[in-house]
Amino acid sequence: MNTKSELCVYDFCPLQVSISKSTLAASLRQATIAETQPSHSASASQFFTSDALYSTCDRCDGCNGHKNDMQTAYFRKVDCDSVLNSIETITLSNGVKLPILGIGTSHSGGYSHTALVFALKHCKYRLIDTAKRYGCEVLLPQAIKESNVEREEIFLTTKLWPKDYGYESTKEALKGSLCRLNTDYIDLFLMHWPEVPAQCSSEKKKLLEDTWRALEVMYDEGLCRAIGVSNYDVSDLCEMFESSSIKPHVNQIEFHPYQNPKSLRNFCDENGIAVQGYCPLGKGKILTEKPIVEIADQVQKSPAQVLIRWAIQNNVSTIPKSTKIHRVFENSNVFDFCLSENQMNVLNNLHDGRRYVDPSSIQKRIDSQLPDGYKLQQSITH
Ligand SMILES: NC(=O)c1ccc[n+]([C@@H]2O[C@H](COP(=O)([O-])OP(=O)(O)OC[C@H]3O[C@@H](n4cnc5c(N)ncnc54)[C@H](OP(=O)(O)O)[C@@H]3O)[C@@H](O)[C@H]2O)c1
Repeated sequence: MNTKSELCVYDFCPLQVSISKSTLAASLRQATIAETQPSHSASASQFFTSDALYSTCDRCDGCNGHKNDMQTAYFRKVDCDSVLNSIETITLSNGVKLPILGIGTSHSGGYSHTALVFALKHCKYRLIDTAKRYGCEVLLPQAIKESNVEREEIFLTTKLWPKDYGYESTKEALKGSLCRLNTDYIDLFLMHWPEVPAQCSSEKKKLLEDTWRALEVMYDEGLCRAIGVSNYDVSDLCEMFESSSIKPHVNQIEFHPYQNPKSLRNFCDENGIAVQGYCPLGKGKILTEKPIVEIADQVQKSPAQVLIRWAIQNNVSTIPKSTKIHRVFENSNVFDFCLSENQMNVLNNLHDGRRYVDPSSIQKRIDSQLPDGYKLQQSITH
């Protein structure tokens, strides 16, 4: 790893959007080059190695007067602490503090060890969202260890897949997650979907009730600091309340300006259930939508930062995922600006019901023989 606080990069062109890996490798002899793209910016004024963020410093005089626009540029290691503000928290109904921003690790799009270490070590992320289904629980302990962040400082969420629903099997499944995550407690344990395997459909209500009862018991035993559900609608929650002793602390749902279920959010509010939003970037597919880009231009931030900030200003904990460290940094750099009331109103009124996770495809996935993490195969990067 490069330990110098300042370095120079030869034959660097600030007009190019990216710095080539070979150019950097020549300058950063000992560094591992993980990412060389600048963050959201027209000029390459920043780049990342696997261990740090570098930014052009005042010794760099721009490309004025340089032949062919090439120059020797000076970069200084950025103290991320001085750039990033701390990640705020929201308080759950039981007093547990949930970070308002976390990092996702779903299996679609792959898993990057470097990105997760970087997120914890340099970008102040303290919430990691995972699930048994993603197949990557087992990879997280090493990333946490390498980040040097204490386990107690991390808020770890994992989820129970419907194939494991049932009183005893839920308890067994939690044991499995604890073992793979190498921890003796989970901060937040969620029922992944309000669905059950087709072969159990006739006893769906009882199976969901037994499962929630197991979560309540494990919460009482201190194995989970908070318990909740995911993808539950108002009717699913109402049915659950008929038999539950504890209301879910969290309901994790798809949440971005085009999927903003206001009546569900109000219902959760009234019942002391914190809403957590997944797919805040619509899996990267809403970043070029005109209203988002226009607001990003107005506030001089990237579309991703606007979407994340919008969730935060709605008091919704959000868990964007990226396997690229420059994006992991970008997505965390959202506490130094505010969207105006007018900008919030524009975004709050974009809902058109579109989803990037289709609930109608879930039953098939629950009943399929595909193993957990099947999408991860061949897409785990160090
Ligand atoms: N409870 C549930 O049922 C459920 C369902 C889905 C997801 N989740 C959780 O929510 C997390 C987030 O959802 P998601 O991963 O589906 O979608 P997402 O966070 O909305 O989008 C992720 C996609 O956006 C790209 N991206 C990230 N940051 C970017 C940036 N700054 N600029 C441009 N592109 C960017 C990523 O690509 P790169 O990797 O190439 O950067 C990736 O393709 C998941 O990882 C998972 O933990 C939960």
